[in-house]
Amino acid sequence: MADLTQNEVQTPPDAYLKVENLCKHFVVGKDFFGRPNAWLKAVDNVSFSVQKGKTLGIVGESGCGKTTMGRTILRLYDVTSGDVWFNGEKISALKNKEFDKRRPNMQMIFQDPYASLSPRLTVGEIIGEAARQHKLVDKSGYYDYVVDVMKMCGLQPHYFERYPHEFSGGQRQRICIARALALKPGLVICDEPVSALDVSIQAQIINMLIDLRKTLGLTYLFISHDLSVVKHISDEVGVMYLGTMVEYGKKEDIFNNTLHPYTKALFSAVPVPNVHVKMNRVILQGDIPSPVNPPKGCKFHTRCSECMDICTKAVPEYREIEPGHFCACHLFNTEEDSLRLLNEAKEREEREREEEAAKLKNRLKAKISSLKDKKPSSDAAAEEKADNGDIAEKVNADVGESAQNNKEDKS
Ligand SMILES: Nc1ncnc2c1ncn2[C@@H]1O[C@H](COP(=O)(O)OP(=O)(O)OP(=O)(O)O)[C@@H](O)[C@H]1O
Ligand code: SF4
Ligand SMILES: [Mg+2]
Repeated sequence: MADLTQNEVQTPPDAYLKVENLCKHFVVGKDFFGRPNAWLKAVDNVSFSVQKGKTLGIVGESGCGKTTMGRTILRLYDVTSGDVWFNGEKISALKNKEFDKRRPNMQMIFQDPYASLSPRLTVGEIIGEAARQHKLVDKSGYYDYVVDVMKMCGLQPHYFERYPHEFSGGQRQRICIARALALKPGLVICDEPVSALDVSIQAQIINMLIDLRKTLGLTYLFISHDLSVVKHISDEVGVMYLGTMVEYGKKEDIFNNTLHPYTKALFSAVPVPNVHVKMNRVILQGDIPSPVNPPKGCKFHTRCSECMDICTKAVPEYREIEPGHFCACHLFNTEEDSLRLLNEAKEREEREREEEAAKLKNRLKAKISSLKDKKPSSDAAAEEKADNGDIAEKVNADVGESAQNNKEDKS
């Protein structure tokens, strides 16, 4: 048994980080008995892979599930379903204790450098404490180790004893990066690491991240709203919409041969600093739908300018359209694909309707049997009612008799 698990966990995948059909669903509603009956599909069936030393940029509107995906990969959230492979191991199958040993190798840099640093710890403690806990450095070498990491991230050694509130936003983000790098990670998930900073500081931090990637051989998952930043730093790009990856591929393919209508709309919204360039903007209609109750078929169909009949009925397949370039859109279906997907959707709908009817039937059966169980008490009630009737009759008769007697007495 132990061997089997070992085997399953250690089969080497063809990438440094590989995510297969990853789902993270949050329970957002419960029925009378406390059973979950509503889910928010924050990450829904996402698959991609990243090679060692490369950067995958993740883009998409606010609320599309970028942060949740990063946190689920690092197991800060439990995986609902799907697999995550990292460095040859299926980390989603590891026990918590086992995974904790690998945790230093996978780090995250958070969006808000103000909220993610403890105000009570000095810079030296923030950067070095986790490294000491994971025994990456002993007590004697601690100061030198932390100062080396600080220098690497552009922080002066005399900042060691100072507190986070004494620093600017850019310096705080450098402290966050130093804290992650002190653990000697292989993978760093950067969740909008520069969105809270002003433009000149953004450029410094981005360039520092690029340099560190080269010198330390890091692999990045780089989450951002800013397409120009993603274009600058990424080797590959993934586009997410309502928890689903709709397009994924090499940066050049995504920017020069955009396939998905949503990606086209995102890219057309980027301002071009040239008055002579005429922009052909695709304006997205309406708001992003609720992930608790997403539209049927293609989740983007309510806002897509190229929506067809099939888009409202069948979920598009996430398919490799050209080598290494994946897209989930019915525009790239063959006629057979469309027929098959429509049939599958119809069958699924019928199955769901039957399941719903069976559930309703079971509920009714349960209700009827519970009413039958209650019958003795209803009989008792009937008997009680009959008794009450008898008593009432008796009382009426008595009253009538006494009234008659009174009449007779009077006369
Ligand atoms: N702990 C949670 N419980 C329930 N729902 C959650 C939780 N965390 C996130 N969500 C929901 O999951 C969806 C995705 O959220 P997420 O923060 O991953 O989006 P995002 O793409 O990172 O957005 P932004 O660009 O604004 O940071 C949102 O609808 C959000 O409300
Ligand atoms: S599947 Fe249909 S609705 Fe969805 S993006 Fe493609 S064309 Fe638009
Ligand atoms: Mg986020």
